[in-house]
Amino acid sequence: MTWLITGGAGYIGAHVAKAMTGAGERVVVLDDVSTGVEERLGADVALVRGSASDRGLLDRVLREHEVSGVVHLAAKKKVDESVGDPLLYYRENVSGLTVLLEAVVAAGVGRFVFSSSAAVYGVPDVELVTEETPCAPINPYGETKLVGEWLVRATGRAHGVSTACLRYFNVAGAAEPRLSDTGVSNVVPMFFDRLTRGEAPRVFGDDYPTPDGTCVRDYVHVADLADAHLAVARALAERAPGEDLTVNVGRGEGVSVRELATLVGEVTGLPAEPVVEPRRPGDAASAVASVARMTEELGWTARLGVRDMVESAWEGWLLSHPEARAH
Ligand code: WQD
Repeated sequence: MTWLITGGAGYIGAHVAKAMTGAGERVVVLDDVSTGVEERLGADVALVRGSASDRGLLDRVLREHEVSGVVHLAAKKKVDESVGDPLLYYRENVSGLTVLLEAVVAAGVGRFVFSSSAAVYGVPDVELVTEETPCAPINPYGETKLVGEWLVRATGRAHGVSTACLRYFNVAGAAEPRLSDTGVSNVVPMFFDRLTRGEAPRVFGDDYPTPDGTCVRDYVHVADLADAHLAVARALAERAPGEDLTVNVGRGEGVSVRELATLVGEVTGLPAEPVVEPRRPGDAASAVASVARMTEELGWTARLGVRDMVESAWEGWLLSHPEARAH
């Protein structure tokens, strides 16, 4: 069978493409390369340039490549941007998804894996977030991911498509430097960016009700996350048509922002004693996944730790920021 990976030239998508081809799956990537990078893809992966909501293109790709499963990652993913331009997020992440799902149903594709996010939970008020924790997103980005899950599940049920929704927690690291995250919108690259400029990393708030007062997150290595996609994609073959598997993907362990800063200092060898700034609006004190469902349903657990994430992310950062070595 052939898997279509939308957004497969992106940071996470390219890791998924690598994991799936490495495991012997046939893969075709559909990416508009707006933020994706073609060079991230191996020679064994076909890239079709275009939008994941272009119905004509989708019909052609699904037919020509005899696609029998889709992993859908193409989406807008910046929380701040979604607050300023919700229509863009609903158009891309929701309206676009309806077009893709229509094409999937029309082509008789039987498996669909959806890239969701811990953002669907909003500000969870529990120590460990299970898949039963109520979903209450607090920004349009999280809303579109939750609506996306509803669309995927309802379509699967109605048309006999086996579906999965993967709720990613905080993704970091790189399987190889050239696959690195090129954005600077998450904490690890944001810390590297400050250090590269000779500035102290910033900690947004140290008066949270957490052990050291800084926010606690569940960081998962992107190579593990990619592996989780492979495990889920393969498991869908064993499931009944129309059945859905919605799972958290994390490590189930909390790491505070201050702990992360210390680790970044150790790995980079740069002075990383952070400066404390006011809380960032909308941040949860803690967001740590219960990973029990993923373990019980699929026998899958993350293998790599936070140090692996920081080390591999730093190698990738140095590739695009050689000046960072000089400090
Ligand atoms: C992590 C922690 C910050 C930068 C977001 C989205 C989520 C998902 C992943 C999607 C927070 C703190 C950060 C800095 C800091 N997005 N921080 N200093 O907010 O947990 O999740 O990204 O695809 O939907 O909401 O991730 O990496 O921005 O922040 O103290 O310079 O680091 O306050 O506690 P977040 P993040």
